[in-house]
Amino acid sequence: MSLTAVAVRAAGRFLSWHGDQPEGVWHAPGRVNLVGEHTDYNSGWVLPFALDRGVVVAAARRGGDMLDIRSLQSEGRAVVPLPGLRPGGVTGWAAYPAGVAWAMREAGLPVGGASLVIDSDLPQGAGLSSSAAIECAVAIALADLYGADVPRTELAALARRAENEMVGVPSGIMDQSASLLCEAGHALLLDCRSGQSTQVPFDPAAAGLALLVVDTGARHALTDGRYALRRAECEQAARALGVPSLRDVTDPARTAAIGDPVLARRARHVISDNCRVLMAADLLGAGDVAGLGRLLHDSHASLRDDFEISWPQADVAAEAAERAGALGARMVGGGFGGSVIALAPADSAAVRAAVRAGYARQGWPPPAFLDAPPSAGARRIL
Ligand code: GLA
Repeated sequence: MSLTAVAVRAAGRFLSWHGDQPEGVWHAPGRVNLVGEHTDYNSGWVLPFALDRGVVVAAARRGGDMLDIRSLQSEGRAVVPLPGLRPGGVTGWAAYPAGVAWAMREAGLPVGGASLVIDSDLPQGAGLSSSAAIECAVAIALADLYGADVPRTELAALARRAENEMVGVPSGIMDQSASLLCEAGHALLLDCRSGQSTQVPFDPAAAGLALLVVDTGARHALTDGRYALRRAECEQAARALGVPSLRDVTDPARTAAIGDPVLARRARHVISDNCRVLMAADLLGAGDVAGLGRLLHDSHASLRDDFEISWPQADVAAEAAERAGALGARMVGGGFGGSVIALAPADSAAVRAAVRAGYARQGWPPPAFLDAPPSAGARRIL
């Protein structure tokens, strides 16, 4: 389904539910991260790019300082009074959009009531950042509707605050930054400490390659506590090393000074993945897309063995893809379910077939494949 078709569907549903046209339709994409996983909340570097899929929100202002939120992907309707709204006041899927309105008002922005109809062509729980896409689509819609002139980096911070405080997930800044700041044909090199970002040209097709996303079918939820546990382990490791964050360590050998072997492995992943991000950005800067393959492979091994957040379907998919000619493959996102990316030849039929065959041998239902052309960030589309 094209983006315009999703937007038209959302606008049509808005009309039938509210008896009126929306004032506009806004879109925010999901993302894939090339490399640098669980580095964002360690003040490190990430290198995501935006997908051509995401979330749309058909929206209009409404009186009474109320949010009326409906979604084509979720049952029910949430009606949320904005005055007095605070963390804990809304739970479930509506906490994402309501949290954004709350965070914007907390920041002093002139945001009032709105009717929001949310639609998506992004699989949920697939590690492609559907939550941040909801937050960012709502953030730009409310900012436009109420004429709030906010830099995108600030909107990203507010969307993250919604997730951290209203939803209760201690996520980093990568997903919201990717959704709001990415540009077509580029990956975004983001320094999560300084907030500085650079657009790095990324054109796999020009190199005769394709970045293939394998939705492994295993679902994950950042809210299940395992993401938060990894974050806490990283903070403990940084304390053991006497540094403000793991970003401040560049030599993996220093992890030997951490007494606890689990914490040492967690730290080694973060330190080595930070290094891989900078190497990947250099390779892309030099036009060497194929060179990314090795880094993807090493990152997966690190996430599987040191950070221990990979899952069986991801390991099978990554290995089968590489055996069938992918230059490298790895899990993406928070872990424990979601998607794998593979840097494959432009004709990826053999890679897809090998992954399907690997799944069949395990008796698993076949995975879904998505093309992932590096696409534009969030914007108004109707
Ligand atoms: C999730 C979080 C991000 C980031 C990744 C792992 O997507 O939302 O902030 O930590 O996991 O890299």
